[in-house]
Amino acid sequence: MPIIAVSNQKGGVGKTTTTVNLAAALGMLGKRVLLIDMDPQGNATTGLGIAKDDVDYSLTELLQGQTTLAQSIVRSPTAPVDVLPSNGDLVSAEVAMMAMPHRESVLKQALTGIETQYDWVLMDCPPSLNLLTLNALTAANGILVPVQCEYYALEGLAALLGTVDSVRQTVNPQLAIAGLLRTMYDKRNKLAQDVANELLKHFGPQVLASVIPRNVRLAEAPSFGQSIFEFDANSTGAAAYLALAQELSRRRF
Ligand SMILES: Nc1ncnc2c1ncn2[C@@H]1O[C@H](COP(=O)(O)OP(=O)(O)OP(=O)(O)O)[C@@H](O)[C@H]1O
Ligand SMILES: [Mg+2]
Repeated sequence: MPIIAVSNQKGGVGKTTTTVNLAAALGMLGKRVLLIDMDPQGNATTGLGIAKDDVDYSLTELLQGQTTLAQSIVRSPTAPVDVLPSNGDLVSAEVAMMAMPHRESVLKQALTGIETQYDWVLMDCPPSLNLLTLNALTAANGILVPVQCEYYALEGLAALLGTVDSVRQTVNPQLAIAGLLRTMYDKRNKLAQDVANELLKHFGPQVLASVIPRNVRLAEAPSFGQSIFEFDANSTGAAAYLALAQELSRRRF
């Protein structure tokens, strides 16, 4: 079963937009999908129509051993996706985890037995390489890296891939690159084209064929608590995320 961390320490590159809409697309394709919100900002939680500060339990309590997985999961009211929600409390869980003996594998332990319940697990990571991200990379068998096609995109990638290597060598030898995903792509922009081509040159087949275009409907959907498929199924953004779900379903990483 794919357990995918959607991660890039660079902020605002489309991690949350990708996690939410890929999860919704896979759900629409009939897959049982769990989205885990690893970011205290809770954007994926609210983006799927869940009031992040009103949930009974969140990832925070699960990581501290105070609740079971079943107690913490909420069904999105809008998309066919289950969610392990998060909010600002998650910062305290991260601090508490620092003192735990196997602090990088707290999430992995908490997810024991999940294979029988879901076909896909997607984790929306925060924009840093902190202990929460490390927990996601330890629990994952693949990392999906959204890359915004702009000048500084390649710079942070070397650091991120270095982290993936050290995670492989220490806590998680199974961690594969599920793909680099070009996001917010504007085909009329020469710089975006150049960066997209550079990515292909450096990373070859690790770059996914699906490209996510810049589409204002993708930016509007979260304020309605909806994925792009409920908000505007006919948009270019919806078509792109559906194509991504199909590509990842075919691809063995
Ligand atoms: N393809 C797109 N077209 C237009 N706007 C987009 C697209 N993808 C993302 N956005 C917008 O860009 C902003 C950043 O996207 P998003 O929140 O998904 O990035 P992120 O990597 O999760 O950010 P953070 O690092 O803060 O968690 C948001 O306002 C989002 O609505
Ligand atoms: Mg985000």
